[in-house]
Amino acid sequence: MLIAVLPGDGIGPEVAAEALRVLQALDLDLTFEEAPVGGAAYKAHGHPLPPGTLDLARHADAILFGAVGDPDCDALERALRPEQAILGLRRELGLFANLRPAKAFPELLGASALKPEIAAGIDLMIVRELTGDVYFGTPRGRRSTDVGLREGYDTMRYDEAEVSRIARLGFETARKRKGRLCSVDKANVLETSQLWRDVVIETSTDYPDVALTHMYVDNAAMQLVRDPGAFDVIVTGNLFGDILSDQASMCVGSIGLLPSASLDAAGKGLYEPIHGSAPDIAGKGKANPLATILSAAMMLRYSLGEPEAADRIEKAVATALAGGARTADLGGSLSTSEMGDRVLAAL
Ligand code: IPM
Ligand code: MG
Repeated sequence: MLIAVLPGDGIGPEVAAEALRVLQALDLDLTFEEAPVGGAAYKAHGHPLPPGTLDLARHADAILFGAVGDPDCDALERALRPEQAILGLRRELGLFANLRPAKAFPELLGASALKPEIAAGIDLMIVRELTGDVYFGTPRGRRSTDVGLREGYDTMRYDEAEVSRIARLGFETARKRKGRLCSVDKANVLETSQLWRDVVIETSTDYPDVALTHMYVDNAAMQLVRDPGAFDVIVTGNLFGDILSDQASMCVGSIGLLPSASLDAAGKGLYEPIHGSAPDIAGKGKANPLATILSAAMMLRYSLGEPEAADRIEKAVATALAGGARTADLGGSLSTSEMGDRVLAAL
């Protein structure tokens, strides 16, 4: 099995290195090939997603991704900005489904932004559509209004096939969990969302065993902090999923803890922490590598057919946390590689 390793920018290389150490310790038949992506790739090759990197991602069995984003690149035209690398990979590889699990760690309830008794109940999965919505809709751009004001515009859109495809994955996911699916939209205001809701309801007839509810995104944001334990699976569009998954991470305790899988129709995937490149702490050895290590576990489970190895990693992370291992985001003082050491020791 060939794993493409795309460390990227900021803390990306630091956290990816720890996930690699963990994968290498497992004694599986894995080969790793690294390529530049994001701002690092722009600086080396003039493009955030160079053809060689896209090629490697295409023929690898799975992709381990660090993070992209570099303030040095803020002034570049949009097509050359680091974020275009991850958006381009999602689009080019058809990675339409983003799974973002959020589960409370009993040892970390104190790190949650919520009261411990509320945080304790969190065990949810956000199923985020990843290749449509206002992220990719056209037309988009900048223009001048009749009265000469600068105007920016984007297009929110979904067609019914895109909605039913992600809805099905939401229902299937709920079926393997507690059987509850909450579809999040803004159907009280947006046409795109009304279509979304209609199609989710139509799709639900194939899943009579799953309890479907609907929630407006503003209410969902509130319920996520009021009673997050009430959620099982959330299915939502690209933009709402982006926002709600960051929020869910702080409910668990740190954005440094949440992994993700981005899958195509055949189950091939890109695995990345949900956090960004955190330029403010890059290169300081302060970043929490657990979200990336847990992303590697998701890779073993969803793309490589190694569920036992995935369990081993997840247990090792839980053991390290139970043993008091804490990076700065969790109120501790371990460095990135020391946290990696603690996970390796528990493995
Ligand atoms: C994420 C990130 C990306 C997104 C950025 C880096 C383009 O925030 O994966 O959640 O908005 O999808
Ligand atoms: Mg995000």
